[in-house]
Amino acid sequence: MNEILIEGKRLRLRRANSTDLNYIMTLQYAPENLKFVVPFDENYHREIINSDGSKKLDVIIEEIDTGLAAGYFMLRELDSPCIEFTHVIIGRKGLGYGREALRLLMKWSFEIKDFHRVWIDCKDYNKIALHLYESLGFVREGFLREIILTDGVYENLIVLGMLDTEYFLSVRS
Ligand SMILES: CC(C)(COP(=O)(O)OP(=O)(O)OC[C@H]1O[C@@H](n2cnc3c(N)ncnc32)[C@H](O)[C@@H]1OP(=O)(O)O)[C@@H](O)C(=O)NCCC(=O)NCCS
Repeated sequence: MNEILIEGKRLRLRRANSTDLNYIMTLQYAPENLKFVVPFDENYHREIINSDGSKKLDVIIEEIDTGLAAGYFMLRELDSPCIEFTHVIIGRKGLGYGREALRLLMKWSFEIKDFHRVWIDCKDYNKIALHLYESLGFVREGFLREIILTDGVYENLIVLGMLDTEYFLSVRS
C-alpha cells in the first residue's frame, strides 16, 4: 500500500517504494536534470525507502488520472522544525506540474506537518527553478560560493527559504 502524503487537482504526492528506484535513478541521471542536481546512488535511495521515514523521504509525484509518475522530490531533516526540499525533478516538464507539486508540498509541510521553515538550494544559473521558487514566495537567503565541484568547475548555490508565517500570509491573501 502506497503512503499518500497529499492530493491536489491533478497530482498526488506519495512515498516512494522499491519499485520506484529505477524511475528515481533514471530521472536523476537524465542529462536535462543531472546538470542541476547532485545525484545520490541507488543504495542511498534504498536506505531511505526502507527506513521508517522519520528523517528522510523519497516522494513520487504522481498523476491522479493515469497513476503514472510525473516527478520526484527528496525531503530531509524531517526530524527538525526546518525541512529541506531537495532533488525537485519533474519528468513531464512545462505542464505546471512543478508549481502544483511544490504548492502541495508547502501545504503538507506547513498545514499538515506544522514545520516552521522549509528551505531549498539551487544552482545560481538554474533560471527556471529560481523563477519557480521565488514566484511561490521563497526568499533568497544566502549565496554559497564555489561549493559544488562539477566536472572540474566550482559552482555557486543560492539558498532559498520560507517561514510558516510567510506561507500562511500568502495563502490568506
Ligand atoms: C525546475 C522544474 C522542477 C520546473 O518544473 P516544471 O513542471 O517544468 O515547471 P512548471 O511547468 O510548473 O513551470 C513553472 C514556471 O517555470 C516556467 N518554465 C517552465 N519551463 C520553462 C522553460 N523551459 N523556459 C522558461 N520558463 C519555463 C513556467 O513558465 C512557469 O512560470 P510561470 O508560471 O511564471 O509562467 C523542472 O524544469 C525540472 O525538473 N528541471 C530539472 C531539474 C531541476 O532543475 N530541479 C531543480 C533543482 S534546484
